[in-house]
Amino acid sequence: MDFTAELLKWYRAHRRDLLWKQTNDPYKIWLSEIILQQTRVEQGEPYYRRFTERFPTVQDLAAAPLDEVLLLWQGLGYYSRARHLHGTAQQIVAEHGGRFPRTREALLKLKGIGPYTAAAIASFAFKEAVPAIDGNGYRILSRVFGMDEPVDTGAGKKLFAGIAEELIPSAYPGDFNQALMDFGSLVCTPARPLCPGCPLLPGCYAFAHKSVEKFPVKSKRTAVRTRYFYYLFIQYENSVFIRKRTKKDIWQGLYEFPLIETAARVPPEKLMAGEQWAALFGTSPLKIRHISEEIKHQLTHQTLYATFYTIGLHEISPALQSGYLNISPDLLDSYSLPRLVTLFLGKYLNIQKLFLP
Ligand code: ADE
Repeated sequence: MDFTAELLKWYRAHRRDLLWKQTNDPYKIWLSEIILQQTRVEQGEPYYRRFTERFPTVQDLAAAPLDEVLLLWQGLGYYSRARHLHGTAQQIVAEHGGRFPRTREALLKLKGIGPYTAAAIASFAFKEAVPAIDGNGYRILSRVFGMDEPVDTGAGKKLFAGIAEELIPSAYPGDFNQALMDFGSLVCTPARPLCPGCPLLPGCYAFAHKSVEKFPVKSKRTAVRTRYFYYLFIQYENSVFIRKRTKKDIWQGLYEFPLIETAARVPPEKLMAGEQWAALFGTSPLKIRHISEEIKHQLTHQTLYATFYTIGLHEISPALQSGYLNISPDLLDSYSLPRLVTLFLGKYLNIQKLFLP
């Protein structure tokens, strides 16, 4: 079986018509690749559209305030991607006159552009014959060639890159890379791949050995951390309190309500008797208006259990006064908020509507 010929033939007949395939502008290709890291194509497309409309060039992106970029990113998660995107855009403008370097080697020297992204830009925009292997590529190659080296180690990645370097055709490097992605999404999927009818079947090691689900091999399982978040949605006159997350942690740069985080699940009496509660409210009289059900929010390496307390306050405490922004709830839209918080607001505002006459 000729892997490359079969893959390209399949691609010519079944390629997905995705927005970012309609351009060879390296800036737009880069943008699409950053958006698509950890994000499904269907979820990423509207963001790609909004970003390219609002920031048609790398200069536009570089000149925008970071808060605006984060706001447009809202809902995609992994906000460090948006911060790096913005930083790299500024580097390209400052150091390269706004023009993207044209080779993988030169692209790799930019902050925030790793081997995969550099190869994707070089092959899609500049037709350099370098493989861009993402999770799809590793899965396909490991199954077809029966490669049981882990795909998440440096040595494993090198081995896969070596195989792909041999397979990539110099005339169609972009199509080859894109074909691996589309084929991995549509045919050679992680669970229940469509093996009957697969054009690579005659040469597929994993299929022949009935071990499709054993590939790709991974060396480590990352531990998942569990955290308990108690968000305090505090209403004071017609205003609410928010603050920016500044620490190096999830959601850096986003805004949220006052938060009490604990290592274990805590019932209301205990939360309200705790130190963090006292530090926040002091002796200010308050009223608990509503306690949400616990919401489980799954991030890649963390499981969050969040509960939202809606609290009516008659007097601002010193801690709220000094450490938080006090804004009208109508303005919440103009701050970038974690998806967990917007989910709550969507639910909460719907609850409120139910009480309207
Ligand atoms: N995932 C990452 N990059 C992609 C691309 N260019 N097309 C489809 N899926 C992708």
